[in-house]
Order: sequence, then C-alpha cells, then structure tokens
Amino acid sequence: MQIYKAKNYEQMSRIAANIISSQIILKPDSVLGLATGSTPIGTYAELVKRYQNGDLDFSAITSINLDEYKGLPGTNDQSYRYFMNTNLFNHVNINKEHTYVPDGLEPDSDKACSAYNAIIHQHGGGVDLQLLGLGHNGHIGFNEPSDAFDKETHCVDLSERTIEANARFFENKDAVPKQAYTMGIQTIMNAKKVMVIVSGKDKAEIVKKAFFGPITPQVPASALQLHQDFVLVGDEEALGLI
Ligand code: F6R
Repeated sequence: MQIYKAKNYEQMSRIAANIISSQIILKPDSVLGLATGSTPIGTYAELVKRYQNGDLDFSAITSINLDEYKGLPGTNDQSYRYFMNTNLFNHVNINKEHTYVPDGLEPDSDKACSAYNAIIHQHGGGVDLQLLGLGHNGHIGFNEPSDAFDKETHCVDLSERTIEANARFFENKDAVPKQAYTMGIQTIMNAKKVMVIVSGKDKAEIVKKAFFGPITPQVPASALQLHQDFVLVGDEEALGLI
C-alpha cells in the first residue's frame, strides 16, 4: 500500500487528479473506474481544469462507474449518472457512449447486473485505475458489511447508516432509494490499480480499521489490503489515526 498524506481536501484532490492525469497521459485509451459521493468532487474539478488548460485528452478514455441507485433515471439530479455528467463528463471531451453507469431504471436486478458484468468483461474484466471513496462503515461502491466478499455486479439493500449518510442529498430520508446496483469486491480487486481518497476527521476511524485492521467482509474495504497496487490518498484529518 502506498499512502499520500495531504494537508487538506484541496491538496488531496490535486494529488488524486495527478495520479488520474498520469494514467490518462501514459495510456490515453485507459478504462477508468469512477466513483461518486462528496469526496471526488474536488478531484473531478481538478481534472476539468487540466482539460480546459489543454493538458488532458479524454477522447479515447472509457469510464465504468461503480454503482447506481435502483429506480432513479439518469435525469434525476440524485442519480449517479447525473452526478457524473455534471461533475465531469459534460466538461471534458470524453465520448459519452464510452461512459458506463449501471442502468438504475432496469427493474429486473438480474438483467441489470448481468448487462453491467458483460460490459466490464468486454473491457478486459478489470479497469486500469479504480477510484474509490470510503463509507463510514467500510463500504466501497455499495458493498455493505456482510458475511462474504461479494463478487461481481449485484443488487444490494442499502444499510440504515448509508441511507442516513445519503439523506443529506435528498428531500428527506424516506426519499433515499433503498436499493442500488454495485460492482462487487471481486470486480474492484480486478482493477490494475486502485486509489481510495478520504477526507475529514469522521473518516479517521474507518481508515484505521479498513487498512490496518483484520481483513473481513464485515469491513468490505479491508479486502484492498490484498491488492497489489493500492494507493491511499487522504488529508491529515482522515489519516490522523494511522
Ligand atoms: C460512490 C460510492 C460510495 C462512496 C462512499 C463515500 O460511488 O460508491 O461508496 O464512495 O459512500 O462517500 P463520500 O465521498 O460522500 O463520503
């Protein structure tokens, strides 16, 4: 595991953007695994800045997002498709047809998940660089604590804690979808390189538990301790206990 300690959120975002930028520069047709949430917003803003400065070219990039709420159309401003469009895709020269997010509108979970797995397999079964945020309970993507590490894309019931954490983006807690489609831990582990970004004091405890504690599906992110090319980029507060 390689650890980059940043002074604050802004510096964390720049370091993460540096790593993604070098991936794009060294391999212009990279497949990027992308995440949503509050943590990567600054990273995406940095990437947009670098594109606007003429330093990055997304024209041959493919992106495969981690997850999507089940039941939300891409036009809903809380869907992850909408998030990706507004924070990154609409502002760079990526070919939208090469940006993949699970189909939240597909009501048949088996169909939605096998279609997404087929897309991942068509792209070699593993992305070049997977960007991840970290949930307070150790979730990555929407892989919640469970009795076994989940494999490929599957439908999950969101935990009460995750619903509460995400309620800030919705009118109220009841409006948060109760299920989501997410890549599995195996899919994430198949990425050639994985980068987790973390910011803030409230993540310090789970950072310590996930990356310096026992490897267990009760803390899904702990699986990353076994990844051969895992980078943790965090600010001083999030890395404060390690
Ligand atoms: C987002 C995702 C989630 C978030 C995690 C952290 O696509 O799958 O696992 O990365 O919930 O969220 P933030 O960054 O909002 O703390």
